Amino acid sequence: MTNRITSLFKIKYPIIQGGMIWNSGYKLASAVSNSGGLGLIGAGSMYPEVLREHIQKCQKATDKPFGVNVPMLYPNIEEIMKIIVEEGVRIVFTSAGNPKTWTSFLKEKGITVVHVVSSSKFALKAQEAGVDAIVAEGFEAGGHNGREETTTLTLIPMVKEQISIPLIAAGGIASGRGMLAAMVLGADGVQMGSRFAASTESSAHENFKKTILETKEGDTQLTLKELAPVRLIKNKFYQDLQELYGRGTTSEELESLLGRGRAKKGMFEGDLVEGELEIGQIAGIIHDIKPVAQIFEAILEEFRLSQKDFAKFEI
Ligand SMILES: Cc1cc2nc3c(=O)[nH]c(=O)nc-3n(C[C@H](O)[C@H](O)[C@H](O)COP(=O)(O)O)c2cc1C
Repeated sequence: MTNRITSLFKIKYPIIQGGMIWNSGYKLASAVSNSGGLGLIGAGSMYPEVLREHIQKCQKATDKPFGVNVPMLYPNIEEIMKIIVEEGVRIVFTSAGNPKTWTSFLKEKGITVVHVVSSSKFALKAQEAGVDAIVAEGFEAGGHNGREETTTLTLIPMVKEQISIPLIAAGGIASGRGMLAAMVLGADGVQMGSRFAASTESSAHENFKKTILETKEGDTQLTLKELAPVRLIKNKFYQDLQELYGRGTTSEELESLLGRGRAKKGMFEGDLVEGELEIGQIAGIIHDIKPVAQIFEAILEEFRLSQKDFAKFEI
């Protein structure tokens, strides 16, 4: 299969592993790239020198293309970008910020740039900023998200109407059937996060990985809309946040609660009570933690079978 996404990144399958704080170091990114997809190192939870180390290790672990995800809401962006250029990274996915800020700088260095959006309005802005492709991420996705609550099913066709550059669908995709559905809606490829968070190669704590398997329909919620909307598992930390809301909290109070390294505590150190646990709604169909190569096999097999099934269906 070749299409605009496989050609853009020079990969075999149009499957991208979303950058994920505390989950996607070089082990996960290189495993995804070695399986024929595009692995992304998640720079959002790394000090600049840690990122440099992960890039160098990834270069040793795979000879296939890989990239770095840079959420622009985190500090040290200038240093992060400098390291990306110095280390010869060829693909950068930016998120949570204005695509104008870094796109031309990266493009001048010959780097392929993709920006993550949650609305067709921002997709158009990203296209105008000169990015090479868009990730359109629906409301069901794990991690940070838009305020508008647009689901992937509606977002993809709406973004498709607005842009001409390649489109990657994200949010709620963790299977071959999900991938096929997104591509039928007009996506050229898919980005998955939650599915890869529950993989052997994810750097998340085992407690968090096991919790993903136990997460059922209705167990996550989009919160922190005033600050930076994020989908979380409804644990004690989440309840503490809701209590602050109930009291009519200020951004400062929220920031101070979050400022205590809660995402690291939850996902990396495995504190399921006091930590922040980011995962998508689709966790409800994730029932095993397995190596990335096996995740790919299962997705591709299901994609092929469901494609054949639908080819037989006539109206
Ligand atoms: C644990 C976790 C951490 C994430 N961290 C980031 C991040 O650092 N940067 C980013 O752009 N997106 C982040 N995301 C979003 C993913 O890259 C991806 O777009 C999303 O998970 C897709 O939706 P899904 O979870 O339904 O597969 C994160 C998602 C999860 C589950």
